[in-house]
Amino acid sequence: MTYFHEDVGEGTPVLLLHGFPFDSRSFAPQLAHPPEGVRLIVPDHRGFGRSSLPPGPATMEAMAEDALGLLDQLGLPSVVVGGVSMGGYVAIALTRLDPGRVRGLLLIDTQSLPDDAEGRERRERVAREVEAHGVGELVEGMLPKLLCPDAPVRAQVEAMMRGQRPAAVAAASRGMATRTDGKDILSRFGGPCAVVVGAHDTITPLEKAQQLQSLVSGATLHVIDGAAHLPNLEQPEAFDVVLRELVARTA
Ligand code: MLT
Repeated sequence: MTYFHEDVGEGTPVLLLHGFPFDSRSFAPQLAHPPEGVRLIVPDHRGFGRSSLPPGPATMEAMAEDALGLLDQLGLPSVVVGGVSMGGYVAIALTRLDPGRVRGLLLIDTQSLPDDAEGRERRERVAREVEAHGVGELVEGMLPKLLCPDAPVRAQVEAMMRGQRPAAVAAASRGMATRTDGKDILSRFGGPCAVVVGAHDTITPLEKAQQLQSLVSGATLHVIDGAAHLPNLEQPEAFDVVLRELVARTA
């Protein structure tokens, strides 16, 4: 399997995990200007971007195992782990698999709850639609909810989504449907944690972020104005402040 990753900057290692259906380019502002004192490691999940899609289910655990393998390869015993939306599900799965590797958690526009029966059926419908007709309908349905109206990054986000392989998108949709409740692992997590949410996010809104914050002892909550589901892209400066603060708490 080819598992592509970016590795930029110098300092405390931070693994950033992208959402669905994106790739490492969804961290473009941070990759272009890594915050001072931070080394960013940003993979493409299996099948997305420049990573290949191995056979078998693309569960959150499988994506987390891929990332743990990369940390082994890079010789990194522990890192700050951050994830946006589906990337947050993968960050929680990684914490479950190997909590000692996680020196801090950054949960961005994500949630701890699994899908209900209706949600699982929707994932399967999305997977079948994408396999039959490509990602167009998914992109058109998601795009208005991802960003604030007139966001300058809209064309960039749309192109990134339209470029993803249908097989990978379908596999990840089915993978998300099988994810488990993150409550137990989050309530046991003892390291620093920051929860971030775009003020205009309707996919994983403020209530989901508040619920996440209530699960992790000492977690801070950061609501980013002028952003919806992808605050690191819409408001990179405000996002970077939170990232730097969290990294400082792990020192
Ligand atoms: C994402 O941005 O990764 C997705 O909205 C997550 C999801 O569909 O649950």
